[in-house]
Amino acid sequence: MAETAELILNGQSITLPVIEGTEHEKAFDIGKLRDQTGYVTLDSGYKNTGATKSAITFLDGEEGILRYRGYPIEQLAENSSFLEVGYLLIYGHLPTQAELTDFSSQITKHTLIHEDMRKIFDGFPSSTHPMAILSSLTCALTGFYPESINPNQTADENNLQIVRLMAKLSTIAAWTYKNSVGHPLNYPRNDLDYCANLLYMMFSFPTEKYEVNPVVVTAMNKLLILHADHEQNCSTSTVRLVGSANASLYGSVSAGINALWGPLHGGANQEVIEMLEEILKSGGDTSKFIARAKDKNDQFRLMGFGHRVYKNFDPRAKIIKKAADEVLHALGLQDSPLLKIAQELEQAALTDEYFIERKLYPNVDFYSGIIYKALGIPTEMFTVMFALGRLPGWIAQWKEMRENKEPIGRPRQIYTGELERNYVPMAERK
Ligand code: MLT
Repeated sequence: MAETAELILNGQSITLPVIEGTEHEKAFDIGKLRDQTGYVTLDSGYKNTGATKSAITFLDGEEGILRYRGYPIEQLAENSSFLEVGYLLIYGHLPTQAELTDFSSQITKHTLIHEDMRKIFDGFPSSTHPMAILSSLTCALTGFYPESINPNQTADENNLQIVRLMAKLSTIAAWTYKNSVGHPLNYPRNDLDYCANLLYMMFSFPTEKYEVNPVVVTAMNKLLILHADHEQNCSTSTVRLVGSANASLYGSVSAGINALWGPLHGGANQEVIEMLEEILKSGGDTSKFIARAKDKNDQFRLMGFGHRVYKNFDPRAKIIKKAADEVLHALGLQDSPLLKIAQELEQAALTDEYFIERKLYPNVDFYSGIIYKALGIPTEMFTVMFALGRLPGWIAQWKEMRENKEPIGRPRQIYTGELERNYVPMAERK
């Protein structure tokens, strides 16, 4: 017999169907609750609310499991390229060689952006945060491809928008960086793969021959794969919610970029480096900061430790820690003072009872910040790199939401304001 739940409300019994996922996680289906009872559920921050059924990413926070389309993140990070993982997320299966070659060459073909778009960069004041430029230019793509706002596009037309976005966001991201440092913009190079081309567009100068460092390419590839999806996190939920109003792919992803920009979400790796720099500036004594982190009355918090959904460890951090060690050695940065501080904090978190008890282990943001810093990427660009990694996840979730014909997202509320009262003319107000 199918499992059900019984809700007793003022003596009346209401039966709620139980929905079970393929990994046996369960939910009460409350879809008819308001019609049946007049009540809604209240769950600030949606910590106990499944907003959708999704077949893209499985995450078990207790066991530290993350899988894209069933494949463990460890295997994908070890064996795949970012575009292969992108294809897997978006289309649901690992591509054959022919499918991957076709997908990669389509993306390569679309990396150029319209010259008029280039001019938009000049309109931003130099104080603009790169995430503001990234989200604005992503939304601006609707102006260059106006057909993209039509919600009734064919699958082929939708695929073209997907490929364009996958291709152009890396160029926009690299140009955002070049623009922020006042360097000439580099046009994409079709002879390089996705990660090598991204590094080339960001770090080469017209005055010098640019050598792509394979260790750096491998680390970048892993970082992008590890960030590619994370089920219904804040930015992904934003993309789905905006898209549920039939907003375009570019408009929905632009909204997701803004959500990711928040310091509580994608901005965390930037805060890790800022914290390490603060510790270094104040003399480098980590024990002082560890004591401060334990002090309830002190505002100081260790950034990059613990995670909202991973209760024991972050599986992405395990993989990226190894990549961080490799990159720092390859670039001869293993003795950098900033890294020494990071290692001391990591050691404290892994051995000190206070951190162990509270599950404050280093998470993916802790190590990704260290790698980006070692690559010479300015801290303000860290979240842009996260957005590039998250892009195939956002696209896959938007596409799934559309294909499943999900209804427009429209949460309810519990009103806590004034009861009805009469308008007071200005002369009578106190
Ligand atoms: C993410 O990868 O989106 C972050 O770890 C945040 C989250 O999942 O809530």
